[in-house]
Amino acid sequence: MDDTGAMMIRHAEPEDLPSVGTLLRGGSLDSVEKALTDPDRVVLVATSADGEVVGWAKTHRWCDDDPPAPAGHYLGGVTVAEDWRRRGIGTALTLRRMAWVRERANVAWCVVNARNTASLALHRALGFVEAARGPRFHTTTFDGGLGILLRAGDADRYADAVTTSRAADQPSAARPSPTGPSRPEVGTGP
Ligand SMILES: CC(C)(COP(=O)(O)OP(=O)(O)OC[C@H]1O[C@@H](n2cnc3c(N)ncnc32)[C@H](O)[C@@H]1OP(=O)(O)O)[C@@H](O)C(=O)NCCC(=O)NCCS
Repeated sequence: MDDTGAMMIRHAEPEDLPSVGTLLRGGSLDSVEKALTDPDRVVLVATSADGEVVGWAKTHRWCDDDPPAPAGHYLGGVTVAEDWRRRGIGTALTLRRMAWVRERANVAWCVVNARNTASLALHRALGFVEAARGPRFHTTTFDGGLGILLRAGDADRYADAVTTSRAADQPSAARPSPTGPSRPEVGTGP
């Protein structure tokens, strides 16, 4: 178990869904519910000392490249209740997801609205670096029109893997559409 002072980070349970719903920014609670039982995704909550859910976060796995955004594990949204911000909860939720991804892939990805200075500062402090800028990554678009694709991990090893998989692949125009929810709530913040 992770503690952040009086906070605890744990896997979300179905009974957390109403609380997660109050924190949800875009996306649907149905997609969160599906993610709870999806072995390719993780959903976490942060709870206060009295058990109140004060933050949540999840990952999303894209199975196909959508250049410049590759297939892979994405940190798919993190929200902390306003009264609980700037106490390290967003950082704790992100570190825990990074550790989860690290067990499965060399690189963790994330997309953030270019206007979201708080989220960009948080992720950069944890080692994320900019990989690309654009109006859309996979199905995520951005208020204001510009998002930033961030990457943390062993980029060279990842690039090798992508090159190898592309060599055996068809031209990108022939690739199937990305699978998964039509619009994860990553990167659509103010
Ligand atoms: C972004 C968010 C999750 C951060 O949660 P948090 O618990 O406050 O984050 P932390 O306390 O771990 O902050 C870590 C660092 O991020 C940066 N940061 C966080 N909030 C910030 C803000 N409002 N302005 C500037 N930098 C900020 C700071 O560098 C901070 O370190 P510091 O407090 O030592 O200065 C929270 O503001 C939030 O829920 N925002 C709305 C949802 C959102 O935009 N999610 C991200 C989508 S990609």
